[in-house]
Amino acid sequence: MKTLKHFLYQFLILALSMSLINCKGDPKKQSKLNMEEQSTITKTPYGKLPDGTVIDQYTLKNTNGMTVGIITYGGIITSWTAPNKEGVYEDVVLGYTQLEEYLNGSPYFGALIGRYGNRIAQAKFALDGKEYTLAVNDGPNHLHGGLKGFDKVVWNATQSKTDSGVSLVLRYLSAHMEEGYPGNLETTVTYTLTPNNVLEVEYQAITDQKTVVNLTQHSYFNLSADFSKPIVDHQISIDADSYLPVDETLIPTGEFAEVQNTPFDFRKAKTIGKDIDTDHDQLKKGLGYDHCWVLNHQNQGLRFAASAHHKKSGRLLEVYTDEPGMQFYTGNFLDGTLPNKQGGTYAHRTGFCLETQHYPDSPNQENFPSVILNPGETYTTKTIFKFSVK
Ligand code: GLA
Repeated sequence: MKTLKHFLYQFLILALSMSLINCKGDPKKQSKLNMEEQSTITKTPYGKLPDGTVIDQYTLKNTNGMTVGIITYGGIITSWTAPNKEGVYEDVVLGYTQLEEYLNGSPYFGALIGRYGNRIAQAKFALDGKEYTLAVNDGPNHLHGGLKGFDKVVWNATQSKTDSGVSLVLRYLSAHMEEGYPGNLETTVTYTLTPNNVLEVEYQAITDQKTVVNLTQHSYFNLSADFSKPIVDHQISIDADSYLPVDETLIPTGEFAEVQNTPFDFRKAKTIGKDIDTDHDQLKKGLGYDHCWVLNHQNQGLRFAASAHHKKSGRLLEVYTDEPGMQFYTGNFLDGTLPNKQGGTYAHRTGFCLETQHYPDSPNQENFPSVILNPGETYTTKTIFKFSVK
């Protein structure tokens, strides 16, 4: 009897240690073990603004090992890891490693954009006959909220954990006439990382005076995780039958142009590089793709908008949104002057953006869906970024 017990005991020990050894070597089994762990959110100091304001970084981590680093300055996503087909998580978003670099100048790397994402012609618009003048910060136009847009303000952060994941709730009160926009605008952006490698971005805003709002997220992706590589080999699909042609200053002409038989047709996935250098008037104006696509199925609310696939790594990013439009920007203004996170610099077209939003210059274009927010109404919109491998 004693020997049987002893034998069983020995066997149990052996089986247990075998399974531990196995798990160590096998990432799949290891991730099964991790499933028992919880998603986490941690806060660490990231730096200080010149006036002494402390900027924190929150790191959201799910049970697979996906991490998203977000700082309270600009609500900027500083890093975001996604798995390749071997299950290796690597950072796939452009950005910097230090606050100083963001302060020294950033082409909106990973930032929240407001109050108005994209351009407003001649930096002017009118509401009820009253004209509002904004900062001219992009040729003759206004871009991404002005000189100190939502990408450069300090957001108030709180964290929460729900069944659907870990969330970082960022709040910012934009005062009446800040950057020229009317109304005190109370904005809340919630980033939620779910257990299935989805990052949800939910925007909410209320105002005490009639105003215009168009918020978005400005992450630049490079799914190769090698920031020295151009993104032209990524396969993009966009569920849009038309796009908005622009003038020389990248303001929509007001026309809705069919994508069919143009380089703008991404209804079937194709590489960014396939047609980007085609002799096409619109590609010359944008120096590549820098246009707003008119997404299909606008009455369906949250639905598939676009995907990006990097064959070599297997990384697949899918974007879902309830917005009518999406600016697809191929990093045409990156010119090798900004330092990248890996020791080199960000060269031409080493990142692309999928900025879900209302159409550019909507406050001045009557045929575009309205971007007006009235007191008593709540602006709400949601975009989902989902990573997987294919
Ligand atoms: C947006 C614009 C681009 C450019 C980038 C930032 O995507 O459409 O023209 O301004 O932001 O460089």
